[in-house]
Amino acid sequence: MDVVSYRGSVNEYEGDCLVFFITESDFSVLDLLREDTKKNLKKIIKTEGFKGEKEKLLKIPLGDQMKSIYLVGVGKKDLIDDEVYRRMSAMGVRQMKKDKYRRGLFIGVDKDKERAVVEGVLLGNYEFDKYKTRKDNGNEKGVKEVGLYEGDEENIRLGNIFAEAQIYARNLVNEPGNVINPVTLSEIAKKLAEDKGLECKVYDEKDIQEMGMLALYSVGKGSSTPPRFIHIIYKPEKPRKKVVFVGKGLTFDSGGLNIKTGDYMRTMKIDKSGACAVLGIMKAVAELKPNIEVHGLIGAAENMPGGSAYRPDDIIRAKNGKTIEIDNTDAEGRVTLADVLSYASELKPDLIIDMATLTGACMVALGEYTAGLFSNDDDLARSLEEASRKTGERIWRLPLDDERLRKKIKSNVADVVNSGGRYGGAITAAMFLQEFVGEGIKWAHLDIAGPAYSKEDFFYYQKGGTGFGVRLCLEYLLSNT
Ligand code: BES
Ligand code: MN
Ligand code: ZN
Repeated sequence: MDVVSYRGSVNEYEGDCLVFFITESDFSVLDLLREDTKKNLKKIIKTEGFKGEKEKLLKIPLGDQMKSIYLVGVGKKDLIDDEVYRRMSAMGVRQMKKDKYRRGLFIGVDKDKERAVVEGVLLGNYEFDKYKTRKDNGNEKGVKEVGLYEGDEENIRLGNIFAEAQIYARNLVNEPGNVINPVTLSEIAKKLAEDKGLECKVYDEKDIQEMGMLALYSVGKGSSTPPRFIHIIYKPEKPRKKVVFVGKGLTFDSGGLNIKTGDYMRTMKIDKSGACAVLGIMKAVAELKPNIEVHGLIGAAENMPGGSAYRPDDIIRAKNGKTIEIDNTDAEGRVTLADVLSYASELKPDLIIDMATLTGACMVALGEYTAGLFSNDDDLARSLEEASRKTGERIWRLPLDDERLRKKIKSNVADVVNSGGRYGGAITAAMFLQEFVGEGIKWAHLDIAGPAYSKEDFFYYQKGGTGFGVRLCLEYLLSNT
């Protein structure tokens, strides 16, 4: 589907519908219509009692070549933000889909909300249906084009890049474990880098051992598909900064020997969401070309209980020299990231942001729609919170300063143990990660276990992988570096 700027007259538009965004009690945008159409419309609005309340959609059938007008309420003027437009645009495009309309014109969007509208349209229209056998004889279906009335080309371009990066991530997350494993994920990364002119290095299981990344290696040992370490680089001429994004890439998490029960194992194909977000970010970075050096690092492994699986009680030395006692093989994400964060630190970046579907405990703490944010730097945390308000991806900061809680990851036989027990599980996991971040490096950790996956369709999300974190990090990159 395309979102394009439309610069003709509203009354001469030749698509299937006009979609007007209505601020509560303000119908001035309808002045763009011919006087008679407007008069009829106002009558219907009155009888229907529609005022432009947020999340209300009034469909007015016309029956001519223009099939309908939708009025989409965005609510009270003072409360309108990007996210309202993102959600309401998704609502508009979904109504078009329902009505089997192919082309529509969106009208009444302020310049500073256009990017959000493009994002809402593209994300709202998304569907992961590639494995459904088509019954329509290959006829094209779905919404083909949304016009943005007098839309700004640059806003449309940015909206497209942001949304397509998130959709790219969603598509990868939604692929099952029999399609995406550490090896195929690394091939996908290579292909992306090739297409986008990025540098990409893939390290196989032998390289991983030689590099001293025995933590990542151990997590991958129980699977018949070996682990991979992926490093993608975007490097402009004279970068002002060096930023590293790190993603947890568990292509499937069975729990390993501490095997999960059926209910909890279900959906664990999404345990690669952090990695997929990193790939989406790198795709967009290649298109946005910021004056920042950006590295994307992925630790890819499959956590399986095979005969050579790592075990509870094992003691493993990570890349930075610290030893890890394994308490629970299902706390594999932090073990994987131990090596990736060590490697990231060796790059001597200005900052590291990691994304990981790390703990169920984070979902217990914050619910499934909000990511946990942990950071050793207040400015970085604040900037991410600001970016989050703009992109609508909810995050909430949790503490790293509880010294008694930190004791729970102390081990009797090694430097750290990979599980700190039930209470404060998201925090002890983050504290574990911090052990592998180099001294003096700014770092933020996003525990995206909840928002990486949606159990239902809502707003501009569909059941399945969400691509959470992609726009958040891009927004941060564009506005804070
Ligand atoms: N990948 C899971 C965390 C997760 C749970 C992500 C639910 C998304 C939805 C992680 O590897 C895990 O299994 N964590 C354990 C840690 C525990 C064994 C200390 C958990 O959260 O139960
Ligand atoms: Mn696990
Ligand atoms: Zn996991």
